[in-house]
Amino acid sequence: MSNILIEKLIAEEEIARRIKEIGQQISSDYKDKEILLICVLKGGVMFMTELSKHISIPVDMDFMSVSSYGNEMTSSGVVKVIKDLDEPIKDKHIIIVEDIIDSGRTLNYLKQILEGRQPKSIKICTLLDKPQTRKVEVNVDYVGFNIPDEFVVGYGLDYQQKYRNLPYIAKVRKEYV
Ligand code: IMP
Ligand code: MG
Repeated sequence: MSNILIEKLIAEEEIARRIKEIGQQISSDYKDKEILLICVLKGGVMFMTELSKHISIPVDMDFMSVSSYGNEMTSSGVVKVIKDLDEPIKDKHIIIVEDIIDSGRTLNYLKQILEGRQPKSIKICTLLDKPQTRKVEVNVDYVGFNIPDEFVVGYGLDYQQKYRNLPYIAKVRKEYV
């Protein structure tokens, strides 16, 4: 038997402050341009909606769903497209918005697919990054927080589809009883 223990890692206020900064950074980096934010479902939803509120240039949104994980806490290395974008991205400035980069496989694959569709530019924005666990190189342009090699939930991130609604980021521990 095991119990799941949740331990707060990044507070709601700290996340809000950091997202605001990234929004302002994006607004100044893309001054006088329009951007398309591409949310990687489901984990990136809370981050992208909050981020978009702090971007002062014109923003469009689209959603994509890929899976690289089953319901376990380790990477399977298998990535497949579950839901594709609704609109073409040719000649657009796109930013892929992710919840977390772990092995890097998901984003590496996604970036390759989207590059093939010839956007004008492509950048990656992630709320969390675990640089220590990288297996595949990915160039990340905007990072909310670097975190250690711990499984985390909250602010969109799940453990077996639960805890996405937590307004903060927490570590997950299994306690064997
Ligand atoms: P990667 O392909 O290994 O970089 O995995 C990225 C995806 O795995 C993320 O988009 C998440 O959906 C999931 N993931 C990786 N680490 C965590 C974690 O600590 N908590 C929840 N989901 C995670
Ligand atoms: Mg994800």
